[in-house]
Order: sequence, then C-alpha cells, then structure tokens
Amino acid sequence: MRYVTLQMIYEHPIAQKYVRRAGMAHAISVSSHAFNLAHKYDANPDWAAKAGFLHDIGHYTWFRNGEWDYELYRDCDIHPIKGAERAHKLLVRLGEDKKAAKEISHAILFHTESALPEGQFELNSLQKVVHLADEKDKQPGDLHHYRNINQEKERQLIKTLDEKIDLDSGNYTEKISIGIDNES
Ligand SMILES: [Fe+2]
Ligand SMILES: [Fe+2]
Repeated sequence: MRYVTLQMIYEHPIAQKYVRRAGMAHAISVSSHAFNLAHKYDANPDWAAKAGFLHDIGHYTWFRNGEWDYELYRDCDIHPIKGAERAHKLLVRLGEDKKAAKEISHAILFHTESALPEGQFELNSLQKVVHLADEKDKQPGDLHHYRNINQEKERQLIKTLDEKIDLDSGNYTEKISIGIDNES
C-alpha cells in the first residue's frame, strides 16, 4: 500500500515553487497521461503518475535581458538531472519508499534526452511511459509550460487521480504477486 499521495506532493512548498515554475497544468496533465499509459506498458501506475507530475521540477528560468533565451536554454539546461535529484529529495522527505523514489527519479532523468550524453538508451517501461506522456502534452512554442487552470481545479484533478491510483494499485500489486509482471 502506498503512503505518499499526489496530494501530499502537490501541497508541499517545494512542488508549489518548482513544479509551478514549469507549469502546474502541464504537470497534472502529464501525470494523468502517464497513469493511463502505465496500463499499456505494464508500468507501476503510482510511480508513473508521480514521475509524470514531477518530471519538470528541475526547470530553471533562462532569461537574458529580461527575455527567455532559447539558445542559452538549449546549451546549458540540465532540468532532467536537477529534477531527478530534487524530486528524489522531496519524495524521501515525504516518506516515500526508497525503491520507488529511485525508480521515479530515474524516469525523470530519462524523460527527455536534452541533458543526456549522445547515444541510444534503452528505456524501461516506466521511463518510456513518462517520456511519452510528456510528448503527448507538448504544444507548439512551448505553450504547455504557460497553460493555467485555477487552483481549485488543480486540487480537484489531483484528488481524482489519487482515487484512480488507489483503485488501480491493488491490481498492479496482484499482478506482480502472481508472476505476470517482473517489475518490482
Ligand atoms: Fe522536461
Ligand atoms: Fe514537460
């Protein structure tokens, strides 16, 4: 049974500061896509939703002379690396299972290749799910980072997602115990 919920993560000041910086609506949407895709790829739905929600927590603002500088961002950004570490620290602080925190952190590290060395990486199912969920929510001109919904709606969506995860987590655990899935 999971202890840390999306609601606990959402309400934490660290998430409010850094997840909101890259777009709360985008984070919730990616979390929801990741949860849905977890079924198809046989990934842990709880971990997928958490990694989806936290995937952009490492973003930094790249401004030069008061304007967003895409060149600077492309050359210097390490948001997947910073995000993996920041999310891990937050999850552990909230009491997350250490194995879950590691897997979620890895999925954040691999959600985009922008900060990784050149070459091919073989992604596991959780990492694939978070990458695909992010791609699914992307909008031209990076508009997905600026989309807004009100906080009441944010809380409502997070709560609904938590309820779905709670219903689903039982099924996932059951599959592992009868040996259909070997991810643990
Ligand atoms: Fe990202
Ligand atoms: Fe993203």
